[in-house]
Amino acid sequence: MPTLAPEIPIPGTSPQVLLDVQSVEAGYGKIGVLHGVSITVYAGEVVSLLGPNGAGKTTLLRAISGLLPLTGGRLRFDARDITGSGPRETARAGLVHVIEGHRVFTQQTIADNMLLAGYDVPRRERALRIEQALAYFPEIASRLQVLGGALSGGQQQMLVVAQGLVRRPRLLMLDEPSAGLAPVLVDRVLDVIGELKQQGTAILLVEQLVEKAISRSDRVYAITRGRIVLEAAAATPDLPRRLEHAYFGHTDAAIPPAV
Ligand SMILES: Nc1ncnc2c1ncn2[C@@H]1O[C@H](COP(=O)(O)OP(=O)(O)O)[C@@H](O)[C@H]1O
Ligand SMILES: [Mg+2]
Repeated sequence: MPTLAPEIPIPGTSPQVLLDVQSVEAGYGKIGVLHGVSITVYAGEVVSLLGPNGAGKTTLLRAISGLLPLTGGRLRFDARDITGSGPRETARAGLVHVIEGHRVFTQQTIADNMLLAGYDVPRRERALRIEQALAYFPEIASRLQVLGGALSGGQQQMLVVAQGLVRRPRLLMLDEPSAGLAPVLVDRVLDVIGELKQQGTAILLVEQLVEKAISRSDRVYAITRGRIVLEAAAATPDLPRRLEHAYFGHTDAAIPPAV
């Protein structure tokens, strides 16, 4: 009889670290934006990175995926040192970054947009992956020959996420996937996070809709002015208020401790 993998981690074993960001420094020209940022994402975990506008969330995702060079610190992914790796290399390693804003090819069909996302995947494998990625989004899967530009904002955002899924990420980083979407579409896009987690994909989510992000996360980090100011389990009581306090520089001690 085949033995099944245990559902519960064996006592004494620690969960596998997938992404390890150590004391990262990065910025634009002479302007430092990230000041010694350290975060960890475990395999299969959903982590939100929250913080006010201009805090450095996008900059951190860009530094992790290799779109922006580090000026200090180290990055490890899947037990490999990826410090200094470019975006192609990190994507190939299984770290996929869905960047802020819509970036679909408006003059290409949905089908072609998907093919482009998997440009380097062997043809048969690519067809399979596209089918699986689109299965999360029936609203666009049924419109393969429609031009990207004819989709609504929400559908374009689904297409962008589906394109990321073609890469078969072990870690999917989503930068404000809900930006500019109607509430019903926000839920539609964010609900996919839960489905991906079930498949074992880890997610690092940047989101302005704090409560929605928390409700889909295992853990959260808060970042302000390029520094991590709070790390907490998503189930921590009163978390939105704690985040608010952390953003504005109050110490966590000002709030009664969580039990
Ligand atoms: N391309 C850029 N050139 C110079 N400064 C930038 C650039 N992009 C972002 N910044 C600055 O870096 C800081 C962090 O920005 P960003 O990472 O986009 O914040 P967030 O995503 O948290 O809103 C801000 O002060 C912003 O003005
Ligand atoms: Mg941003």
